[in-house]
Amino acid sequence: MTDTVITDVTGRDGFQMEKEWIGTEDKIKIINSIIDSGIPRIEATSFVSPKAVPQLKDAKEVISRINRRDVEIIALVPNVKGAERALEAEVDSINVVLSISETHNMKNINKTVDQSIQEITEISKFTESEKINISLGTTFGCPFEGLYDVQKVSEIVRRLSAIGLNRFTLADTTGMASPFQVTFFVKRLKSAYPDAEFGLHLHNTRGMGLANVYAGYQEGIRQFDAALGGIGGCPFAPGASGNVCLEDTVHMLHLMNILDGVDLQKLIEASRELERILGYQLPGQVMKAGLSTDTHIA
Ligand code: COA
Ligand code: ZN
Repeated sequence: MTDTVITDVTGRDGFQMEKEWIGTEDKIKIINSIIDSGIPRIEATSFVSPKAVPQLKDAKEVISRINRRDVEIIALVPNVKGAERALEAEVDSINVVLSISETHNMKNINKTVDQSIQEITEISKFTESEKINISLGTTFGCPFEGLYDVQKVSEIVRRLSAIGLNRFTLADTTGMASPFQVTFFVKRLKSAYPDAEFGLHLHNTRGMGLANVYAGYQEGIRQFDAALGGIGGCPFAPGASGNVCLEDTVHMLHLMNILDGVDLQKLIEASRELERILGYQLPGQVMKAGLSTDTHIA
């Protein structure tokens, strides 16, 4: 058994970026196909304001109707109200979002970083800490504020650790990170917080997504987010585009012998179905080219 864990974020990061309404039935069908492929953790939706992200206003129904066997179901939340709604819907855990960048945090969730930390403190009073993951948006840079020093990230991790939280996702919201930066940030954060668990949430906006997965893996990261077909992005960040593609990531990790328990063929079929539902060509590459081990008649 390998120790790499992939969290699929199609239902949340993937769908939140889609302007055309995706029917609830279609959302459930896609998420169920991903669960059926053996992906063990699913961020299925978010409990945010329906005015901010109308696409995910069916969060409660999605959670109640997906196939929940042998899988951890997660929802993203921005505040106390979101956490209450998610727990009421009986998700297994919540992913609370907070951006390192003041500007992006304000545009995304209308709060200063201090206010968000206050909100997280409130959430931690009624939620077990093992059920809370914190996604640190814009960890590797912000489209409004540029790149920053790892110290800025470290300071926020320190404040959250002080309230007993130790699960963090370093999120490259708009695909600004390069592999050397991932190596440097992960090395520094892991050595400063040896008891914390860090995962990576990467976007392929500038073509560095899988290189960054590899850089993170080399530094000991074992948890990666990805979305089917490479869809997704933050509607509140200019130039945002797709997550690292789920099936492309699985394909690479399979070739490296560092992932098991996932049926890649099922994911490719699900991605083709998603393409039919969305009605445009998805960025995923393996769904078009096939596996590198597929051979053709000469
Ligand atoms: N779920 C549903 N409704 C919510 C909510 C939540 N988690 N949080 C607040 N609301 C509602 C309030 O009840 C209130 O409703 P009303 O107008 O009917 O009284 C309204 O939203 C405004 O509440 P307020 O607390 O003042 O929120 P805000 O206007 O400052 O917006 C957020 C803050 C966080 C709710 C909003 O910015 C948001 O949902 N952002 C999410 C962005 C996102 O999903 N980004 C992509 C993922 S990273
Ligand atoms: Zn994202």
